[in-house]
Amino acid sequence: MKYIKTLIEPPIATIKIDRESHLNALNLELIKQLSNELSIIESVENIRAVIIMGVGNKAFVAGADIKEFSNYSITQGEALSKKGQDTLFNKIENFNKPIIAAINGYALGGGLELALSCHMRVASKNAKMGLPECSLGLIPGYGGTQRLVRTVGRTQATEMILTSKIIDADFAEKIGLINLQSNQEELLKKATQLATSCVKNSPKSLESAIKCINKNFDQEGLTFEQKELVNCLELMSLKRVFQLF
Ligand code: COA
Repeated sequence: MKYIKTLIEPPIATIKIDRESHLNALNLELIKQLSNELSIIESVENIRAVIIMGVGNKAFVAGADIKEFSNYSITQGEALSKKGQDTLFNKIENFNKPIIAAINGYALGGGLELALSCHMRVASKNAKMGLPECSLGLIPGYGGTQRLVRTVGRTQATEMILTSKIIDADFAEKIGLINLQSNQEELLKKATQLATSCVKNSPKSLESAIKCINKNFDQEGLTFEQKELVNCLELMSLKRVFQLF
């Protein structure tokens, strides 16, 4: 199954995540395909910026695929988080060209974490964003505890993560989670305008600036998050064995 559709219109590539029947939820195969697509684009010289969005008008990405990971053992869960971080989320954050998330609906859990890995975010007015993992007995495992704090600050990030609340585009703009919002029909146009404002600048400057911006943040927290996720998975698995819920 092909989950990625890319429209190449130099200097911009628009990648669409195409798993609409599951609200574009991230399964392992989709993560692999998106990572592979980015590897190709990384070395194409006349592509100077990337936009990532979901197919349809309901979801950007509704999270990691709950059905897939709910059957995983602790070791598989740990590997999934580590592999996702290494092959996709960190890759996006450290990409050599600007990547903009165009959040065209739900961006929950891994979906918001995907958007947070991108260098900028624009959202449609119907977008709903949140990290509901604590309500599932987990914690965000694709960098959400780190990147949300960096993006909106400790006060708002702590409330969002600990209460699992879902926020709308107005509030997301107010707290600096997104750069701008627009109506659904104009979202891609707005994302393209933002990308165009970047690509008028030198590609080397953009690449260097991204590296320098990322240097503000250490990577240790991402590894720590993975360990804490494993602790949650262990507890969950014990509860399953002893049928505590
Ligand atoms: N993983 C796997 N499948 C998902 C999914 C996810 N994260 N989110 C949605 N889907 C699937 C649903 O199972 C459903 O498939 P089905 O028709 O085969 O049952 C389909 O996408 C449509 O979702 P549905 O729940 O019917 O849409 P809705 O409009 O009623 O609700 C949401 C939308 C986003 C509120 C709801 O789907 C939801 O809460 N999803 C889970 C979000 C989440 O917790 N993400 C974080 C995971 S860590």
